[in-house]
Amino acid sequence: MSKILLETLKGNPGDRVPFWFMRQAGRYLPEYRKVRETTPSFLDFCYTPEKAEEVTLQPIRRYGMDGAILFADILVVPDGLGQKVWFEQGVGPRLDPIATEKAFANLSMSGFHDKMGSVYKTVSRLSNSLPDNVTLIGFAGSPWTVATYMIGGQGSKDHAAARQLGYGNPELFGKILDILVDSTAEYLCAQIEAGAEVVQIFDSWSAALPETMFEKWVIEPTKAIVEKIRAKHSETPIIGFPRLAGALLPDFVSRTGVDAVSLDTGVPLGWAVSEVQSQVCVQGNLDPHLVVAGGKQMVDETNRILESLKGGAHVFNLGHGFVPETPPENVAELAATIKAFRR
Ligand code: CP3
Repeated sequence: MSKILLETLKGNPGDRVPFWFMRQAGRYLPEYRKVRETTPSFLDFCYTPEKAEEVTLQPIRRYGMDGAILFADILVVPDGLGQKVWFEQGVGPRLDPIATEKAFANLSMSGFHDKMGSVYKTVSRLSNSLPDNVTLIGFAGSPWTVATYMIGGQGSKDHAAARQLGYGNPELFGKILDILVDSTAEYLCAQIEAGAEVVQIFDSWSAALPETMFEKWVIEPTKAIVEKIRAKHSETPIIGFPRLAGALLPDFVSRTGVDAVSLDTGVPLGWAVSEVQSQVCVQGNLDPHLVVAGGKQMVDETNRILESLKGGAHVFNLGHGFVPETPPENVAELAATIKAFRR
């Protein structure tokens, strides 16, 4: 059976537009919450292959997406490098911040693959258990986005700590990006070797950086990761997602060499067709909050996106992840709308 997601990402779109959704596994699904309850620590949950496999499969059983995204988190990478990472209920991720050379000196690659072994196991289990027509997507965070958490010690609106370290101590900041480039490239290669057929690099916080910093902190590290993956696995499509990169998106695509790019909700589609889809496959970009509302508005907007992008390679997705309050029945209507569309 052919994998239409994989084919589309390779630049060979067919009649039907393939789809998957960011955060397709997660708290909006009652069956996810049920499995999630059995392991209080979120990281332990990510590191339990049977459970991570199960929650990856749950949305596929319900909705028949063309892609299954590995269940894990972008913050397993700093955890694997030896930084203390934990998730607090109702708060989100917390880390012991890396703000000094001394704290940086504790990071190393020495135990990295051992620690990530359970993630690789989840990937290999999935590559056996997924239906033949479903493409397995591996992922990691981009160095910049992961660094914002490593340096700030938690999520933040303006990433002040990471920006200020980048400007104030470029040498230490550069070392953090370097270890992230190396570990992330190895992590993604190991996922591919375990069975991932596509990988996505999430750069959730690449927004509103000055263009010189976007070049140094976003484009260069991503390009280095793309080159390292290509050297070993030239056939595996790589999707970039520089969220809120705005007018810098076409540059991101041409300079990093990604095969596809995810469009956030705010990207205008006419512009995306001429500036981005002319270069690579695009993915996106329904507002996840519209799926909370559902109904005619959601269906009309979905069809507008499908129509606007039908002239080239397009993978339907959201502009960011599902929010926990999303009604599962709206996701069913969304999936049916996409499946019914023909290019
Ligand atoms: O279905 C999927 O998309 C696969 C799994 C996945 C998760 N996180 C599971 C998760 C993926 C691809 C991610 C990526 C991720 N993690 C990103 C990049 C994408 C984005 O959303 O911008 C970021 C920034 C993170 C960091 C992170 N992880 C945060 C900020 C939080 C807390 C936010 C919240 O809603 O609580 C997490 C926790 C997390 N990662 C959950 C899930 C399902 C919720 C935790 C739980 O179930 O207890």
